[in-house]
Amino acid sequence: MAKKIALSGVKPTGAPHIGNYFGAMKQFVELQDEYDFYAFIADYHALNFIQNAEEMKENIIGVLLDYLAIGLDPKKVTIFKQSDISEHTELAWIFDTITTMPYLKRAHAFKDAEAKSKEISVGTFNYPMLMAADILLYDADVVPVGSDQKQHVEYARDTAEKFNRIFGETFKLPEAMILKDVATVPGTDGQKMSKSYGNTIPLFAEPDEIKKCVMGIVTDSGDGIPKNVYAIHNLLRPASELLPIYESKSGKYKELKEMLIEDLENFIAPMREKRKKLAEDVPGALAILRAGGEKAKKTASNKMTEVRKRIGVEL
Ligand code: ADP
Ligand code: TRP
Repeated sequence: MAKKIALSGVKPTGAPHIGNYFGAMKQFVELQDEYDFYAFIADYHALNFIQNAEEMKENIIGVLLDYLAIGLDPKKVTIFKQSDISEHTELAWIFDTITTMPYLKRAHAFKDAEAKSKEISVGTFNYPMLMAADILLYDADVVPVGSDQKQHVEYARDTAEKFNRIFGETFKLPEAMILKDVATVPGTDGQKMSKSYGNTIPLFAEPDEIKKCVMGIVTDSGDGIPKNVYAIHNLLRPASELLPIYESKSGKYKELKEMLIEDLENFIAPMREKRKKLAEDVPGALAILRAGGEKAKKTASNKMTEVRKRIGVEL
């Protein structure tokens, strides 16, 4: 029986943090055996945020190295970059024509952006349509993402349904796959960990960086168990192991933080060292990206031929 298809993307907007890893990327590694997995670099999505060629290039290579360092095996996973497959933007345009503005205005990400500034790019507004194209071109069954991306996957599903209704059965309806236990990883200040809040623990942090981040975790003087320290620690060890330790060291924040530093270092070090090795051979990594792109292109262009026939532009 053919394997089910899983697909996900990461925007090249800067160094990933442990929230990205535990919320989304970890699942990629776990799914690569069971699924026909597509992992891509969402560079055209990132263009809404990164408008500097040098930075964009560096970030794209960064995500590629991240993917390989966390353990994605290019023999099993198709790793590619969105901008190499022009079908993504082509299909996004077609989706734009069947989508209404009020529907897109309801997106959480758009509302958040609007709350910050009224000068929103059209690209930010249309973001969900490009994401729908990313997903639907490959007939993805599941989309492993963090919980904040759930609505975007629902938009892709709705868009597939709408297209199918208007033009006939063409797209498979995808489902979001969200890790239950770690819906949202909190940052060092207790809010959602996010690049834009400056409250992250980088996934490939050096030992001194890990120490600085952990020492900066905001501790509330509640019942002796520092909530924010515990929540991050709990990503690395189960509650059954952790709770007795936290109870026996109640109020001893410094000791608990030192333990967390050690656990984080043990968790991060192997991936960090692997990434350094990979970074010594960027051309080798880029060859993987090229091969993945060739494979993805075949799938995407077949699907687009079908779409063009459906809408009546293929004569
Ligand atoms: P950021 O908010 O740091 O910019 P991104 O928006 O680039 O992160 O998210 C990349 C992926 O990581 C998405 O699938 C997202 O859902 C997931 N993710 C980001 N932050 C967290 C978090 N704090 N907890 C769980 N998952 C997260
Ligand atoms: N929007 C996702 C994020 O911010 C990135 C992304 C783009 C994506 N296209 C996708 C994720 C398709 C899954 C599937 O993290």
